Amino acid sequence: MNVLLLGPPGAGKGTQAKRLEETYGLVQLATGDMLRAEVADGSSLGVKAKAIMEAGSLVPDDLIIEMISDRMARPDCATGVLFDGFPRTVAQAEALEKMLRAKEQRIDLVIEMKVVDESLVERIVGRFTCPDCGAAYHDRFNQTKKEGVCDVCGGTEFHRRADDNAETMGKRLSAYHKQTQPLLPFYDERGVLRSVDGMAAIDDVTRQIQAVMDAAQAGHF
Ligand code: AP5
Repeated sequence: MNVLLLGPPGAGKGTQAKRLEETYGLVQLATGDMLRAEVADGSSLGVKAKAIMEAGSLVPDDLIIEMISDRMARPDCATGVLFDGFPRTVAQAEALEKMLRAKEQRIDLVIEMKVVDESLVERIVGRFTCPDCGAAYHDRFNQTKKEGVCDVCGGTEFHRRADDNAETMGKRLSAYHKQTQPLLPFYDERGVLRSVDGMAAIDDVTRQIQAVMDAAQAGHF
């Protein structure tokens, strides 16, 4: 099964993807994480992407499509992928459709995570992550059980993203509304779009997504 989590910056895509990949045996492909790894490596893609990401704009489609195409050629993607942050434009969605068609696959389910814009800035500004395992936390909504220690891997160093500030967030939200929201009618036309209330508490959002995924797996769409 190939599943896509679709929602604005801070909607909770990464938080939920981490919880779902093991339960459903899917590989999480998060283009934001992949790009940040390229930036950290200082690769030619990373050099091109760095300033664009810090400005809150989208990295050009051709670079993203090439990066995803390389990643999807690896054997671990054969049985199913959980896409997080990709596609983000109609051109990316069309390229993905083509890649999957070549493998006689398709996007089986798109889960829209609905969160109002006003809540997103607070989520983003309070976010911190563990660089060792990628677990995401929040100063108020999702604290570590033991202060200063990652619940998942025991790491003690945390990181805040350069683009997680109120100013850049305005640009990221505007990019979402202009370039990514057109994907909602795109996938609705294909009959694979479902929505969950992303304003609910984290555990409740997980339960809603699991209900939608279980129904899709059982063919009750
Ligand atoms: P990316 O890394 O994908 O960032 P994003 O889409 O802006 O999404 P985030 O990772 O910020 O949010 P999330 O929805 O995963 O939220 P999270 O679970 O962490 O992209 C970064 C940049 O890379 C882009 O701006 C662009 O430049 C580039 N890029 C990436 N992909 C691209 C593509 N395909 N094409 C072109 N450019 C691309 O949660 C956020 C916080 O809220 C956390 O602290 C969490 O603990 C908390 N939280 C989560 N759920 C809840 C809840 N239900 N209630 C309360 N708090 C919650």
